[in-house]
Amino acid sequence: MRRSVYIKTFGCQMNAVDSARMLSLLSKADYDVAPSLEDADLVLLNTCSIREKADQKIYSELGVLRRWKTLRDGRLVGVGGCLAQQAGEALRSRAPHVDIVFGTHNISKLPEMVRLAERRTPSVKIGMEGEMTHWETAPYLAEGAASSMLTIMQGCDNFCAYCIVPAVRGREVSRPSADILEEARALAGKGVREIVLLGQNVNSYGKKEGEIPFHDLLRRIAKVDGISRIRFITSHPRDLDERTIGLFSEVEALCPHLHLPIQSGSDRILTAMGRGYGRREYLSKILRLRAARPGMAFSSDFIVGFPGESEDDFRDTLSVMEEVRYDSSFSFRFSPRPGTRAWEMGDRVGPEESRERLRTLQSLQDRHSRERLMEAVGKEMEVLVEGKSPKGPGKLCGRTPCHKMMNFTPGRSGGHLRKVHVVSFGAHSLSGEER
Ligand code: SAH
Ligand code: SF4
Ligand code: F3S
Repeated sequence: MRRSVYIKTFGCQMNAVDSARMLSLLSKADYDVAPSLEDADLVLLNTCSIREKADQKIYSELGVLRRWKTLRDGRLVGVGGCLAQQAGEALRSRAPHVDIVFGTHNISKLPEMVRLAERRTPSVKIGMEGEMTHWETAPYLAEGAASSMLTIMQGCDNFCAYCIVPAVRGREVSRPSADILEEARALAGKGVREIVLLGQNVNSYGKKEGEIPFHDLLRRIAKVDGISRIRFITSHPRDLDERTIGLFSEVEALCPHLHLPIQSGSDRILTAMGRGYGRREYLSKILRLRAARPGMAFSSDFIVGFPGESEDDFRDTLSVMEEVRYDSSFSFRFSPRPGTRAWEMGDRVGPEESRERLRTLQSLQDRHSRERLMEAVGKEMEVLVEGKSPKGPGKLCGRTPCHKMMNFTPGRSGGHLRKVHVVSFGAHSLSGEER
């Protein structure tokens, strides 16, 4: 008898793709996708551990699932992803109703772990050595999807002082370019128009393996028939090289938007974080990108209240935001993570102070985001349709090349790519009409 699985995904795009891999594996092991938690026989939490709050969220979810499990016989709970990798057995001691704990390198073991759990044998697997790489399982692609992520590497070797990712995702490994191209062609064959290349630090793609450089990979993907948009995430400002910057003027399929996380605008703090670039170097790359592709949009990540951050350092962060005028950004209060270098650092910034800094930074970003949306009004933009819009019956939604969400009234053209006239804007999106 087929059973059903519901996956709740937390954290970044890596986890989103991994969840799609889990679905693909489980669909071959007699599990269908459950429409909701209530319908499911098996629930999987694909977890994130990037900040302390992320951990707390998972533990409170697990509290809810304790009751969920008692409501029907045979229900199972599994926990995977970065918190599972970090906590391992300890997770089961804290939440004994969890049947399966699997780490970031053990996704392919999931079907056999589920079988064991069905026979009331819980299991924990978090080993990294000798385990399969993520891409050996193709992720599940939703029917009619116009955009797809494509993993080109896993892990990270950067060890930024605050970051838990290298510990929970392991060392950086790049995927053979031939396999990446094959997957890109297969996706195009299924109707995908946009490919988002995925890795923690895509600019260092293939360096360890002696593979083709990242800019060559981009060029080759751009030649795949049917692919009209390419994005990549995440770029490390230190490793973003001239050849890749130059591609933005040569390769039309490269979308005019780049997520380039700066973290802080202060050189002193960037050094303490071990980021390997300074403010000037970062800003000069932004200028060169804008020269290569006028009108290019940028987004970033920021951390406020890193140990030792003074008011002056914080002002440097505000001024960098003013200089770039990002279209959007994510900003966080520093959260000490066990096992990272910053965990040991003294000179912590007080909670009130870091909260205040975060508020100040986010309100400046809100102003810039609004201004950027306003600049789009009156223009015509191409939208890659993702599906029905929540903003009203008959409306569709999708992203512009600059990665802005657009809700629009469709015309008669049909197809994935539409030309839309921007009429107005809301808090986080544009609104338009296809003519
Ligand atoms: N590989 C990406 C992103 C990794 S995590 C990169 O290098 O940029 C996503 C974001 O979470 C980071 O960019 C950073 O801004 C934030 N982050 C990571 N660790 C954090 C911590 N300990 N406290 C607060 N924010 C953190
Ligand atoms: Fe974390 Fe730095 Fe690696 Fe990004 S580059 S995942 S912030 S260690
Ligand atoms: Fe979170 Fe793991 Fe991604 S810690 S941000 S899900 S790599």
